[in-house]
Amino acid sequence: MKKKTLTTNQGVPVTDNQNSLTAGQRGPVLLQDIPLIEKLAHFDRERIPERVVHAKGAGAHGYFRVYKNMALYTKAKFLQDPEKKTLVLVRFSTVVGARGSADSVRDPRGFAVKFYTEDGNYDLVGNNLPVFFIRDAIKFPDMVHSFKPAPDTNIPVSSSANNRFWDFISLSPESTHMITWLFSDRGTVKSFRKMEGFGVNTYIWVNDKGKGVYVKYHWKPAAGIETIDRHESTRLAGEDPDIATRDLYDWIASGKTVEYELNVQLMEFEDEFKLDFDPLDATKTWPEDKYPLMKVGKMVLDKNPENYFAEVEQAAFCPASVVPGIEPSADKLLQGRLFSYADTQRHRLGPNYLQIPVNRPIVDVNNNQRDGFMQTGTGFSGTVNYEPNTLGGGSPCQSGDLTFGDRPFVGGEVRQKIALTNDFQQAGEHYHSLSKKDQDHLVDNIVDSLGHAKTDIQKRMVKNLTNADAELGKRVAQGLKI
Ligand code: HEM
Repeated sequence: MKKKTLTTNQGVPVTDNQNSLTAGQRGPVLLQDIPLIEKLAHFDRERIPERVVHAKGAGAHGYFRVYKNMALYTKAKFLQDPEKKTLVLVRFSTVVGARGSADSVRDPRGFAVKFYTEDGNYDLVGNNLPVFFIRDAIKFPDMVHSFKPAPDTNIPVSSSANNRFWDFISLSPESTHMITWLFSDRGTVKSFRKMEGFGVNTYIWVNDKGKGVYVKYHWKPAAGIETIDRHESTRLAGEDPDIATRDLYDWIASGKTVEYELNVQLMEFEDEFKLDFDPLDATKTWPEDKYPLMKVGKMVLDKNPENYFAEVEQAAFCPASVVPGIEPSADKLLQGRLFSYADTQRHRLGPNYLQIPVNRPIVDVNNNQRDGFMQTGTGFSGTVNYEPNTLGGGSPCQSGDLTFGDRPFVGGEVRQKIALTNDFQQAGEHYHSLSKKDQDHLVDNIVDSLGHAKTDIQKRMVKNLTNADAELGKRVAQGLKI
């Protein structure tokens, strides 16, 4: 291979990359050593803020293809033609740990997919567990504060700050269902290739007649589901903390692919009030006997990133990145997410973060937002940066299509909890659906963690678990000796 000449970022050849330019053999160093100054200055700025949640992650590129045309339900173009491959970027992550934390610890796993479609980017930003801790975005910052290292000691929850986690959880009964997932072995994972993915929130699919239907997303791994128990998770966190990151990379580097099947559950709007819970509540699943899974298509991951920072650290996923045919529902958790992601990305990556190649749509971007930090100028020209105009021939002009922002809202302004909370039933049902071994692990894992919390917090938590299922509550209480 022909060697390339080392250059500065200005493209100027670097003559010596080992010795600084000095006054005499022993120095001091001269300010006119321009390559040295550039090298140090760049190094000094090599870190950007880590994601406020989901800081540790691994990514891969690939494609998605539908099995059959979905036009009956959605006009989203990438869901129409089985012949067509839509390129995707996926980022898997843990939630609570910092950028250098271990992959195997108990945590939900992020499962974020960016589809580069002909109608612009569509992001399906999900997790590996089907439900969430809370149902209203207004609680999210408090929830994350209680899960993250303590503000006074900086000690993480998983070490010995369990009080804070369980304090918040025990005061948030709607989290009981999520706890039965997170503290099962589904919460400890060593391979991103072998876990499910869920959209968790409810979205709306709209067809070209304007008819909408509620939709929940499920990803099924072709390799099947693999979980590990608490003891294996603890061992790996010490011995092989990057196991899932390396597993994904090595698998793809060896020429093999990673595959997931996309399934959806659909619910007609008329069914919205026929259940004993609110279907737009992210702490609930929809019963699969009433709302069966429908196979939609397959995602294949076949390419590793070449520059992790550029392609994965700088990747920006956002539930508000939707395309015509897909809309957010009124799900109160989702509504907060619509704001939060792009907002944090403007902070983390700058206002022109969508011009970073990994985030840039494959279609033209035409608007008048030409300025701001790190503007690359791509696609902009001419004197007209306003609309309406005649000087630019009236271009770019609005499409006039109906978007979700235009749909009428139902109801007046209130700050109220949803009516059908039913917070414990699905938690109890989930406990009962587990095998004997999985039930034992769930109880054991909760006891192990909750055992570090204060007695009044333990009691509050046992009460919630008892509301879910008397046996579950009793077994945890016995384990805690309360
Ligand atoms: C109101 C609730 C929530 C808020 C306010 C919120 C906010 C955030 C923020 C600010 C980030 C960092 C984004 C970045 O820096 O690029 C993030 C990342 C993420 N969130 Fe959420 N989140 C919420 C709930 C959820 C839920 C319910 C899920 C799963 C369905 C989820 C999945 C993810 C994933 C997968 C990432 C990482 C994306 C990536 O790989 O870059 N979040 N969230």
